[in-house]
Amino acid sequence: MKPGKSFYCCSECGHRSAKWMGKCPTCGAWNTFVEEIEEAQPKSGMESRMIFSSGDNHAVAYDALEMPVYMRTQTGLAELDRVLGGGLVHGSVVLLSGEPGIGKSTLLMQVSDVLGKTKRVLYVSGEESGGQLKLRAQRLGVHGQNLYILTETSLERIMHEVDAIKPDVLIVDSIQTLYSDRLTSTPGSVTQVRENAMALINRAKGDGISVLLVGHVNKEGGIAGPKVLEHMVDAVLYFEGERQQAYRIIRAIKNRFGSTNEIGVFEMEEHGLREVENPSELLLSGRPHGISGNCAVCTLEGTRPLIAEIQALVTQAPQPSPRRNSNGIDYNRMCLILAVLEKRLGLRFSANDVYLNVIGGLRLDEPAADLAVALALISSLTDRVVPDELIALGELGLSGELRAVSGIENRVREAMRLGFTRAVVPARNLEKRKIDLPIELIPVKSIYEALRVLQKPEQTEANNAI
Ligand code: TYD
Ligand code: MG
Repeated sequence: MKPGKSFYCCSECGHRSAKWMGKCPTCGAWNTFVEEIEEAQPKSGMESRMIFSSGDNHAVAYDALEMPVYMRTQTGLAELDRVLGGGLVHGSVVLLSGEPGIGKSTLLMQVSDVLGKTKRVLYVSGEESGGQLKLRAQRLGVHGQNLYILTETSLERIMHEVDAIKPDVLIVDSIQTLYSDRLTSTPGSVTQVRENAMALINRAKGDGISVLLVGHVNKEGGIAGPKVLEHMVDAVLYFEGERQQAYRIIRAIKNRFGSTNEIGVFEMEEHGLREVENPSELLLSGRPHGISGNCAVCTLEGTRPLIAEIQALVTQAPQPSPRRNSNGIDYNRMCLILAVLEKRLGLRFSANDVYLNVIGGLRLDEPAADLAVALALISSLTDRVVPDELIALGELGLSGELRAVSGIENRVREAMRLGFTRAVVPARNLEKRKIDLPIELIPVKSIYEALRVLQKPEQTEANNAI
């Protein structure tokens, strides 16, 4: 294709086409084609990728391979280090993504300050002025030792400064704002993002610089720009939470140097992000007592058990088509649980509006939360109460049966630590292995059996008080 001519490119997989298409024939994604301009020297990134292989590259016997030793630097935020797999690996490229205003720049500024104590840090911002950055840094109490700030969006200028400053850590906020003079497409386009990221990655690998890239999210909540961006970097971290709420959770979607199961929990305060070492306590604080529609669950995020509280509100629908709203629980999962409850227990949710919420802006995508969701829903519908001291664990099958969950001991232990004295658990879990803990375990085979834990509201002290 001639330079300067336009073509269409799938932002998910990079498939190119002369005309616009609704569905990508390669990856099957819908509505992902964006217009791009053919570059004078099309660079597929191959040229720069050559850095990884010297001319005489040969296959090596497996036994002769050496275990890599990753040099890591602590970021000063143990919660972030945990997600990274024990600290920032030297020469690695990390993509940090999240909704606008969630705290990406704040987090990186705080990290820069700690890293600056032992390393040279170059913070490149294409979004804010030096003054704005300084204002934020002051608010965060940043000392700025060994910290260099560059407000720039030109890749060539940034590379020039990298040559001059020779940083150990390079922070780019954000990859979507960068543009390269070599390319004619606009900043944020698939080509610009891909090529600029590739240039930065090669630089990182070549010079052993650790790079932290900020990535925007698209309207579906995925990382904006080409999907290949996620494949190119070593780790993809996602910063999430409700902007109106103080809690922020960072999780790894991909990590070449550690597990992707770990999460880090922060709280946004007046002076920046504060680590939350004991998130369960925070999530349970201010919990209403003896009110219908609530049920506690223990979710397992990696090795870390976390107590969450599920709230349901089931009210008579004023319109023929009832509303369904879910916050923190997958919408389809909620619909499935509602369908099981209708069919297996004969409960009538279809004439009611249903609202579901997980306290603290937490997102639960584990099936182990099914039982707690079901109990919260039934509790709200029937106005019966799940006792405060009780926690519910279990995956709900389509026949209403309760399936075993993983890491049950860990979960029950965390519940005990926070003062829960009873736990409803799938009977299958106890058949497999006895749990010898000083807590009352209530084994249940089906959702029907679990109903016996619900109490009449009069039986609870709090409701008497209301
Ligand atoms: P920011 O880091 O700019 O978000 P992002 O880079 O992800 O777009 O953080 C933005 C929000 O955080 C902003 O709305 C204000 C809030 N904030 C605090 O509450 N406390 C603070 O100390 C700082 C710096 C920001
Ligand atoms: Mg920002």
